Amino acid sequence: MTEAQWTAVDGYVTELLIPKEPALDEALRASAEAGLPPNQVSPAQGKLLHLLARAQGARAILEIGTLGGYSTIWLARALPADGRLVTIETDPKHAEVASTNIARAGLAHLAEVRTGNALDILPQLAAERREPFDLIFIDADKTGTPDYFKWALDLARVGSVIIVDNVVRKGALADFRDSDPNVVAMRQFHELLSVERRVSATTIQTVGTKGYDGFTLALVLDQNSR
Ligand SMILES: C[S@@+](CC[C@H](N)C(=O)[O-])C[C@H]1O[C@@H](n2cnc3c(N)ncnc32)[C@H](O)[C@@H]1O
Repeated sequence: MTEAQWTAVDGYVTELLIPKEPALDEALRASAEAGLPPNQVSPAQGKLLHLLARAQGARAILEIGTLGGYSTIWLARALPADGRLVTIETDPKHAEVASTNIARAGLAHLAEVRTGNALDILPQLAAERREPFDLIFIDADKTGTPDYFKWALDLARVGSVIIVDNVVRKGALADFRDSDPNVVAMRQFHELLSVERRVSATTIQTVGTKGYDGFTLALVLDQNSR
């Protein structure tokens, strides 16, 4: 299998199952025009997030790592009219582009971009004591993932779903000679998961337009029920 084949299959699936959506296409165009890196999820991944949020019946969603708001739009579109999404972005330029993209998609009443370092914003969210988040998507700097996951647990409820992107890192996750800090952080995250009794989790490897990587899905459980 080659990367060209993965990309061709992604193209085929996207063509048949993910009709062109002006707001999403425009978000990608505006993000590229503003010079943002093309690090957003693929259309197929965005739709998976959307479907998971709908299957979950999510009313409150937290995203850590907004970029231009592409995944934010997919997720916010899964919310009911009185739903709520908070997305955290440290880079003011990314946050500004995302806010414009979200507004253009007609989702400004549902999705709020909080600008700042996630490690500053997450304690603020906890202090606000609003309703717990039903779905949390972690997709910011990769070395922060273990800490973001701990905060996600604090901000979730039994039954919440936590999704963490880019955990496989071209297979380096299981190459113990690889000491890249992003890879080491993903191993720490998996070690954390293995002893965390409040969740049951699995990691799925993926290929496609974004290359070889993968994501973790964790379900928050009653303690000791896994
Ligand atoms: C992979 S991109 C997010 C992609 C986005 N979720 C999507 O799929 O459309 C990661 C984003 O996280 C942001 N980021 C990096 N470190 C952060 C931090 N400590 N707190 C909040 N955001 C951070 C980056 O500026 C970048 O915009």
